Amino acid sequence: MDHALQVLLSGGLVAIPTETVYGLAADATNAAAVGRIFAAKGRPTDHPLIVHVGRAEQLTEWASTVPSTAAALADTCWPGPLTLLVPKAKHVLPIVTGGRDTVGVRVPAHPLTAELLARFGGGLAAPSANRFGRVSPTTADHVRADLGGLVDYVLDGGACPVGVESTIVDCTRDPPQVLRPGAISADEIATLLGSPPAAADGPNRAPGMLAAHYAPQARVLIAESRTEAVEVAARHPRSWVLDHSDDLATYARLLYAELHAADARGVSVVVAVLPAAHGLGHAIRDRLGKAAHSKFGD
Ligand code: TXA
Ligand code: MG
Repeated sequence: MDHALQVLLSGGLVAIPTETVYGLAADATNAAAVGRIFAAKGRPTDHPLIVHVGRAEQLTEWASTVPSTAAALADTCWPGPLTLLVPKAKHVLPIVTGGRDTVGVRVPAHPLTAELLARFGGGLAAPSANRFGRVSPTTADHVRADLGGLVDYVLDGGACPVGVESTIVDCTRDPPQVLRPGAISADEIATLLGSPPAAADGPNRAPGMLAAHYAPQARVLIAESRTEAVEVAARHPRSWVLDHSDDLATYARLLYAELHAADARGVSVVVAVLPAAHGLGHAIRDRLGKAAHSKFGD
């Protein structure tokens, strides 16, 4: 922990555990440090980064104004797997926002990172700690395998309990728009706000959400049922059925870990069963669709 703090204070990169996935963190006020994140990931510089802070009250330090919807969601959902887009404060570096006038902020719920953020005091810019276009890491070993020596220190906080990235809600729009589904569902957001948010799909999706994102080395095929998945798998050598559709929380928690494991074992085809489209099922379907997209249509 002391070392992680020193690395961040001196402009280095630290992989941090969060409840969703591991992040690749740098001091959000240090342009050179943030630049190293893009270099390590091989990520286009117009893709904005989320600023992670220790306390919900710090939203005012990063926003020029806090929309009432953002205040309401921050109040009930933070710390937690929710990122809020708000109008950015003047000082927020363009390299953090991809030159946009909004900034994404979240308070992660992981005890180690909460302590790190409390001691650091400021904001940490952090995308998921994977190379651009690859599967997000949910363990410290995933980070080491993917980024290796490109990260100065990996703070090992065990396996991430949620397993898929945070829900992103653009609170600069009315109604707010869900840009990326996650563990905080659109239904929960509707309940908290008293009216439904706008849907995720369409031209306003967050930059960086390319169709071919989250892809493992293995081809990913989608099946509607376990029976179908087993049939499809039987037609392919070195195939693997991915299915926890009877338990959405388990499915989300293990999704990326199983894709990493499939690659580590040299599996060539992963046949994934689509979960039902409710709650976390939306986030899992979204990520499976992206993992399958570029090679889908077998
Ligand atoms: O759960 C998470 O959100 C993880 C952990 C580490 O916090 N982070 C994460 O970051 O998934 P990343 O960079 O892999 O994905 C963030 C997404 C990107 O697609 C980015 O384009 C979008 O959020 N985003 C961030 N700030 C934005 C902004 N100001 N406007 C539009 N999209 C934004
Ligand atoms: Mg990512």
